[in-house]
Amino acid sequence: MKKTATLKVDNREYKLPVVIGTEKEKGIDISKLRAESGYITLDPGYTNTGSCESSITYTDGEKGILRYRGIPIDELAQKSDFIEVADLLIWGSLPTKVMRKRFTDLLTNNALLHESLKHHFEGFPFDSHPMAMLSAMVNALSCYHPVLAMPHSSSEIEKAAAILISKIRTITAFSYKMSRGEPFIYPKSEFSYAENLLHMMFSLPHEPYEVHPEVKRAVDLILILHADHEQNCSTSTVRMVASSGANLFASISAGIAALWGHLHGGANQAAIEMLEDIHSGSIDVKQYIKMAKDKKSSFRLMGFGHRVYKNYDPRAKILKKLSKNVFSVLKHKDPLLDIALELEDIALSDPYFIERKLYPNVDFYSGLIYRAIGVPKNMFPVFFAIGRLPGWIAHWKEATENNRLQLARPRQIYVGHAKQNYVPISKRSTKKS
Ligand code: SDX
Repeated sequence: MKKTATLKVDNREYKLPVVIGTEKEKGIDISKLRAESGYITLDPGYTNTGSCESSITYTDGEKGILRYRGIPIDELAQKSDFIEVADLLIWGSLPTKVMRKRFTDLLTNNALLHESLKHHFEGFPFDSHPMAMLSAMVNALSCYHPVLAMPHSSSEIEKAAAILISKIRTITAFSYKMSRGEPFIYPKSEFSYAENLLHMMFSLPHEPYEVHPEVKRAVDLILILHADHEQNCSTSTVRMVASSGANLFASISAGIAALWGHLHGGANQAAIEMLEDIHSGSIDVKQYIKMAKDKKSSFRLMGFGHRVYKNYDPRAKILKKLSKNVFSVLKHKDPLLDIALELEDIALSDPYFIERKLYPNVDFYSGLIYRAIGVPKNMFPVFFAIGRLPGWIAHWKEATENNRLQLARPRQIYVGHAKQNYVPISKRSTKKS
């Protein structure tokens, strides 16, 4: 017998189906609620609302669990690499050798941009934020791949995924070079995914950049950790845009825009700016903590807290360890790491943070590693987008497969003016309403 929930309202009872997930998460299906009762639900920020059933990623915020297609993030971090994780997320299983070779070849053969796309960079002011350029360039890519922008068959989706995952690196590197007035550096077929990204960013025509093996591994690991996170703001944006029938590239471009916000993927840049403020002496750690606790201030501790994790973000644990490892192999010193560790210690022993279950999230330590590698602050969210891209593609595929497009269109509760008539300007009162 299917389990149901009972809603009692206006002296009537409504039976609502209960949905139970793989890990026993419970949901009440309200898809027929308005038709049967005339009521909608109200849940600003969708804190309590599931938008879909998904098989891609599972998180348990209370226990700090994150699994891609059932595989724990710690195991993938130790044993896998970013391209294998991309395959896992998009296709639902770890790739065979044949699949891996085919996808790697597609990535290699799609690393270049169409030469005319290069001129688009000249249209941006030199100090443009790279997230603005990335979102625009990904959308522009659909003009060069009009058929693959709306992939249907598995092979079309595989090719479209390879175009996006390969070219996002080139777009990132070219926007970095453009900001420095340096010549674009082209990809090399023999380089791995992360190696090519760093090569295209940091090499010069007269001086190739030697990628330290530990740095290559660190960037690949960071991309794995960012690859997906179920229905976060930017992924939900990708799914919402996909639901209108928009193409994959346009949906990804919208996801990049959503990720940019400082409460979401832009928090890695904001966290470093917070640590820099403290390091500059303009404000000390205790004052920042005080501001973060002050209900009147809109300030939040950047890189702290999470809508889902009410425990230590498993990705932050790995990134904290990785930051120390990268610092030691590069013999890199950064006072911001000591400030971050002090901030974490103080916050985690402060009742305000303990009561609200606020812990470091994925954005708290990642910026320190990017800094050690020489990535500029405004490119931190771009690196987040590169990592998140396979997750966005997987969710676009899940939302659109079997042609089951369902236009996302939330309802609202209207609280504005009651009905009123038009007033000619000659009759409008002069006092400001
Ligand atoms: C990402 O969703 C995902 O999966 C996202 C992500 C992914 O992989 O896609 O994990 C990536 O976006 C991580 C989050 C990055 N953002 C930040 O680091 C920005 C700082 N964090 C906060 O703004 C906040 O924690 C949010 C926005 C991330 C989550 O906020 P919620 O769940 O909406 O929680 P809330 O605003 O309702 O806060 C609950 C309480 C409030 O206090 P009270 O009203 O109960 O007194 O906790 C407080 C908040 O004021 N609070 C914080 C805080 N975060 C929450 N107080 C100080 N500093 C913070 N960082």
